[in-house]
Amino acid sequence: MFESFYDLERTPFSRDIPTDQLYQSHMLEETLGRLEYTAQRQMFAVLTGDCGTGKTTTIRKLKETLDTSRFMVMYLADSKLTPRHFYKGLLEQLGCEAKFYRGDAKRQLHKEIELMQGIHHLQPVVIVDEAHLLDKEMLEEVRFLLNFKMDAQFNPGRTKRTLGTA
Ligand SMILES: Nc1ncnc2c1ncn2[C@@H]1O[C@H](COP(=O)(O)OP(=O)(O)OP(=O)(O)O)[C@@H](O)[C@H]1O
Ligand SMILES: [Mg+2]
Repeated sequence: MFESFYDLERTPFSRDIPTDQLYQSHMLEETLGRLEYTAQRQMFAVLTGDCGTGKTTTIRKLKETLDTSRFMVMYLADSKLTPRHFYKGLLEQLGCEAKFYRGDAKRQLHKEIELMQGIHHLQPVVIVDEAHLLDKEMLEEVRFLLNFKMDAQFNPGRTKRTLGTA
């Protein structure tokens, strides 16, 4: 209706706009560049913005931008994300049935990621949308996860860098 009045080819602000038809603002390019940088260096990033400013759309575009032969993108959006559901959700996206207990599922995920990196040479990229809804327990879990990675990759020759990141 209003589409024809304004001579629009398609309904604006729908969720399924093909990513190659998005408005390529400077901000979108800049954000994508930073997120790609984060994925390439296995860093942690937080994307913030007012409601409806295009955070999820940017993530959708990022997913399409990242080379699928190098990155395995896993996406979670759950207002009640608990550590158990976090591991279960990621394992399901890797095609595995998660073990029941959180600790077991966590070890299972680490193992799957090691296999993915070692055999398939794929880097995992985990995206949690609506992360402002995460409770303290889930945020602590993310912190432990990042620490685990640092400990696992600890290399005495690079102590300064590790400490600098911690
Ligand atoms: N670059 C863009 N070009 C065209 N349309 C866009 C672009 N970015 C976002 N939009 C439109 O704006 C709508 C809102 O964007 P999006 O849902 O990504 O925002 P959000 O920041 O994730 O919102 P919320 O805070 O509610 O989660 C999308 O449905 C899409 O139609
Ligand atoms: Mg969103």
